[in-house]
Amino acid sequence: MIRIDGKQIAADIKAECREQADALTARGVTPCLAVIQVGNDPASTVYVGNKKKACAACNIKSLAYELPEETPEAELLALIETLNADASVHGILVQLPLPRHISEKKVLKTISPLKDVDGFHEQNVGALVTGSDGFVSCTPAGIIELLKRSGVQMDGKNAVVCGRSNIVGKPMALLLLRENATVTVCHSHTADLRAVTKQADILIAAIGKPKFFNSSYVKEGAAVIDVGIHRMENGKLCGDLDYDDVAPHTSAITPVPGGVGPMTIAMLMHNCIRAAQLSAGE
Ligand code: GUN
Repeated sequence: MIRIDGKQIAADIKAECREQADALTARGVTPCLAVIQVGNDPASTVYVGNKKKACAACNIKSLAYELPEETPEAELLALIETLNADASVHGILVQLPLPRHISEKKVLKTISPLKDVDGFHEQNVGALVTGSDGFVSCTPAGIIELLKRSGVQMDGKNAVVCGRSNIVGKPMALLLLRENATVTVCHSHTADLRAVTKQADILIAAIGKPKFFNSSYVKEGAAVIDVGIHRMENGKLCGDLDYDDVAPHTSAITPVPGGVGPMTIAMLMHNCIRAAQLSAGE
């Protein structure tokens, strides 16, 4: 069994990004990411802080916009338009969730698709569906990198994605399809979840329920990826998998923490570099 080291693989990707950032800067283009947070949701503050730190580590400039909870929608949209028009800004990220009075859909549509390093704009989602170039949502893109860099074959394998969110489940299914896996998407209305997951050579657990999947859901020798992250009563983190029960039955598995989590930010850095390269005509 391989314990997939997301922390190490993310560090490798960030080192690659730093080299590319330095090369861009030497050519007169300093990669720059604008990060916008509206309100002060504590989890969002941690995520945004980690994104800023990763930018610093990769020699990517970061601009932080911390707006109050009551910021009018029009004001946020105007800021995005200003950043769209600013040639020195290559990536724009609006941390989700947004306060209830702001339409997430409107905000995501307003970000220029060329600066949409989260890959949430409908144009980038459409590009993923049709197999065109575009930005891909960071968490599923990171999972593909984890599988590739751990030597897990996807071509011809049964891949089962549990969860159908726009950020993870749906793009994950499309990316696995692009790698020639036979893909099934399960969700809360799936009639017999265990019967489906038992067929998976590659199992992606992204349902947001702590320790939901035990070994009874897993085919012997499967590669299993845990997208969940939950704080338990004892203060420790766990994922959607009952790791200790599942791990002995797998060929490869990601831990929580130190699996998928660090990859999301590494792929964000990768997308920022790509956005800067595109702006430089590369
Ligand atoms: N909130 C939770 N995950 C994400 C993410 O990947 N991007 C943004 N912008 N907000 C998030």
